[in-house]
Amino acid sequence: MLYGVSLGPGDFELLTLKAYRILKEVEEVIVPGELAYEIVRKIREPKLVKIPMGRAEEVIEELSSELAEKCVEKDVAFAALGDVAFFSTFQKIAEKVTEKNKNVEIELIPGVPSFTSVFSKLKLFVNAPILITTPEFEEVKFKVVLKAKNPRKISETFEKDGFEVVQAEKIFMEGERICKPEDKASYFTMVVAWKGKCTL
Ligand SMILES: C[S@@+](CC[C@H](N)C(=O)[O-])C[C@H]1O[C@@H](n2cnc3c(N)ncnc32)[C@H](O)[C@@H]1O
Repeated sequence: MLYGVSLGPGDFELLTLKAYRILKEVEEVIVPGELAYEIVRKIREPKLVKIPMGRAEEVIEELSSELAEKCVEKDVAFAALGDVAFFSTFQKIAEKVTEKNKNVEIELIPGVPSFTSVFSKLKLFVNAPILITTPEFEEVKFKVVLKAKNPRKISETFEKDGFEVVQAEKIFMEGERICKPEDKASYFTMVVAWKGKCTL
């Protein structure tokens, strides 16, 4: 198994209990930088694999070949700052590992991302639609709708615009369900839409 473990924005206390347990239990933890190294070192000694700008492809290729073999029998964690599902090196690593060996199971462990934690720091309450992006964006490729009581209606326009859409209900809760958008949904439901190849 290969875990992508989210370390949160940088404060050790913002690590989740699940991340803590997995970091303790796996056979090896790999970190891509000094800050991640310092967080994991409080739990155990990780292996630092730097991924420098000019050599990123080469290092990722080498690392993913190693993990594609190792992670069939062993549990290894790649631990990175923030949430590994967002703009993370782990995406490339996970994609390459899957490409090289379909027998490797991959799991992402969510964490506190920089762009939600900053609101607590600023004592800002988000109570209206929000855009989270990188500077080079041309088109929104991900949409999340909270308070999605009528998922099917919400998803109709997204689908017309070429998005894939799911209804995500009770995520990480008992009764978790991910399905095609339905007419009605419970309170703990989001609609998640995306465009282009970005899933494993
Ligand atoms: C490659 S993205 C990774 C985002 C990360 N996966 C997350 O969930 O926060 C790196 C960018 O996230 C932002 N970032 C990450 N950690 C931050 C922090 N502790 N404070 C401010 N910005 C941060 C900065 O804009 C930085 O350039």
